[in-house]
Amino acid sequence: MRFIHITDMHITADRRPLYGLSPHDRLAAAFECINRDFTDISFVMMTGDLVNRGTIPEYEGLREVLKVLDAPYYLLLGNHDRREAFCEIFPQVPVDGNGFVQFDFTVEDNRFIVMDTLDEGKTTGLICRQRLDWLAGQLESQAEMDTYLFIHHPPLRLEGGEELSEMIGAGRVKHLFFGHLHRPLHGSWKGIPMSSQFSTLHQFVYKFGSKVMQGSHEPPIFGAVNLVAGNVVINPHSYLDDSPIFNLRSKSAQNAASPEDLPPL
Ligand SMILES: [Fe+2]
Repeated sequence: MRFIHITDMHITADRRPLYGLSPHDRLAAAFECINRDFTDISFVMMTGDLVNRGTIPEYEGLREVLKVLDAPYYLLLGNHDRREAFCEIFPQVPVDGNGFVQFDFTVEDNRFIVMDTLDEGKTTGLICRQRLDWLAGQLESQAEMDTYLFIHHPPLRLEGGEELSEMIGAGRVKHLFFGHLHRPLHGSWKGIPMSSQFSTLHQFVYKFGSKVMQGSHEPPIFGAVNLVAGNVVINPHSYLDDSPIFNLRSKSAQNAASPEDLPPL
């Protein structure tokens, strides 16, 4: 089965620009690409910072742009989100017994767990005792299924991350998908495979020693994820890329002196 991982859309109210870009148009472009080129997916997962300030008008804006998307979708909360406003506009999204926006769902032989790492008012995330206990209950049931976890914050410095790793390690979770970094990151954490993608909007510049938190307009990417018999393959897709496409075996393409000289396909 296939699904799409999108993150950090930062939708604004009234389609207002942010950092010189349109969050609404950027997300709509991703959805249009998915509708056109990824018609066999089971769902689209959006891993938080759904909106920029967590207000009702922003979530109304998100609800509006989601109408573009043909596929089913799932939403989780990031540090820019707010539970009360989100739940008012998206009352169909499950909330657990403690008020956290977290739930699970299955597709074929795969089980997906969606967790709420929001610590309202703080940039950093939190997985508190209540959320860990909820996760323990989830992991106990349907333990025979291949399980995948979605959270907003990177787990490495996440408060509660140590306990999380003990619960999901040893193969209990096959892959951890997250956002927040506005950068693609692929690797493993305490033996747990993990990945993130670029934002659909602005990106964070990865620069040691800089006193200024730097942003950039590097092109957005979403992850096209393929799950086959417990194997995870993630193709980063640069959905706004409009560079020329050419025949790799064409002699005239090989000898082209510039992109303009490339023969059309
Ligand atoms: Fe973000």
